[in-house]
Amino acid sequence: MLRLAVLFCFLCSPAFAGGTADPSALKNLVHQDCGSCHGLTLKGGLGPDIRPDALSHYDIDTLSEVVLDGIPGTAMPPWRPLMSEADAKNIAEYLLQGEDK
Ligand code: HEC
Repeated sequence: MLRLAVLFCFLCSPAFAGGTADPSALKNLVHQDCGSCHGLTLKGGLGPDIRPDALSHYDIDTLSEVVLDGIPGTAMPPWRPLMSEADAKNIAEYLLQGEDK
């Protein structure tokens, strides 16, 4: 049940309401919404470390699919209902690139 409550909370997140085209909104989304499981600095929490070094085995396309479809059977949710493929690609790019380089 906690998981459901957490998911509903994402729907009211301002980042989704405002769309994710703006890069700083994208960054907020990743740190707040993904950060609720992966840690605010993305170094891991309930979910694993998703900083660039931890994701170096992914390419952008595979990574954006993980974001869109989640990982079935785990707490990693599918984000497809909440974002476009372009958003997911931007997020994948951001995750692989890391913080403000
Ligand atoms: C409800 C908790 C939760 C949220 C929210 C969440 N994740 Fe996850 N995520 C997980 C868990 C748990 C795993 C590990 C699944 C497993 O056991 O393989 C995971 C795995 C991943 C992986 C795979 C890591 C690897 O090394 O293979 C990526 C990438 C990822 N998440 C990205 C994201 C992104 C980007 C967001 C935000 C759009 C996000 N996650 C939001 C729980 C979450």
